[in-house]
Amino acid sequence: MQHIISIGDFDRDAIDRLLDHAGQIDKKQFDAHALEGKILAVLFFEPSTRTRLSFESAIARLGGTSVSVGSMEACSMAKGETLADTIRVVSGYADAIVIRHPREGAARLAAEFSTVPVINAGDGAGQHPSQTLLDLYTIRQSMPIDGTDVALIGDLRYGRTAHSLASALSLYDVRLHTLCPTGLELPATLAERLAEKGMEIIAHDSIDEIIGDMDVLYVTRIQRERFPDSASYFNVTSSYRISPELLAGAKDNLIVLHPLPRVDEIDPRVDASPHAKYFEQSHNGVPVRMAMLMQVMQ
Ligand code: NCD
Repeated sequence: MQHIISIGDFDRDAIDRLLDHAGQIDKKQFDAHALEGKILAVLFFEPSTRTRLSFESAIARLGGTSVSVGSMEACSMAKGETLADTIRVVSGYADAIVIRHPREGAARLAAEFSTVPVINAGDGAGQHPSQTLLDLYTIRQSMPIDGTDVALIGDLRYGRTAHSLASALSLYDVRLHTLCPTGLELPATLAERLAEKGMEIIAHDSIDEIIGDMDVLYVTRIQRERFPDSASYFNVTSSYRISPELLAGAKDNLIVLHPLPRVDEIDPRVDASPHAKYFEQSHNGVPVRMAMLMQVMQ
C-alpha cells in the first residue's frame, strides 16, 4: 500500500515516470475503465476548488466514483469524533482517501490509521504533493526543469505549495530565488535541508532586479487563514504584484505560475500574456491526478 503524504515520498525517477504517464494520459492514451468499481473518498476540511474538483474529475475519467465530506461541520468530527476514528471508518468505505486538513501532519496521521492509500491534498502549512507534481508537469511543458532559474514569490512561510515545490526542485539542477515579505521566509529547517542537498537558494528584495534572468515565476497568495491575527496579515498584504510592465523586462520564454486562488498578486492584465500559464497549470491537475490515482489504486 502506497501513501502520498509528502513530495519527499518520490525520488526524481519516480517523479519523472509519473509525469511521463500524465503526459500519455493528456494525449488520451489511457484506459477509461482502469479504476472501474473503485471508490475514492474525498475528505476536505478546508476550502478547495481546483484540488477537489480535479481529483473528482480524475477518478470519474478512470471509471471510478467518489464519496465526499465537504467540511468538518458536515461530518461527525463536529460531534467530537477524532480524525483517527474518522479515517478508520472511511477506509472501510473506499479504496483510497484524499484528505485536506488545516493541521500540519494530519495526512500522515491519517495514513497511520488507514487501511487504504492516503493522498495528502494539503495539510495546513505543511505539504501539497499533488500540486507540486502538476507544477513540475507545467514547467516541463515549456522547458526542461534542469538548468532553470525559478523565483518563488510570496508567502514562503505558510505556503505549502512553495514548501513542496522547493523540495522537489532540489532533485533537479535548479537555482532557487526567493522573494517574500519580511517574516514570511521559507522555514529554516526546510531551507537547511535544501542547502544540504546542494541547492543554491538566493534571497532577493526586488523582482525588478532579477526579472530578466528568470525562467519561472512561481507566485503565491499570502495565506491569510494561517496568520495569528488580521493586523499581521494586513502588514504584509499587497507587498508584490506581477504586472505587464514588470514582464516587459522578462525573457521571452519566462512562464508565470500560480497554484491559485490569486488575490492581488497577479494583475489580471497578465492573463492575456503568453507568459501566463496558471490556468493551463490548473487544468494539468486532472491528468497528473489521474496518474497519481492509478499509481496508488490499481
Ligand atoms: C493552494 C493550497 O490550497 O495550498 N491551492 C491549491 O490547492 N491550488 C494554494 C493556496 O490556497 O494559496
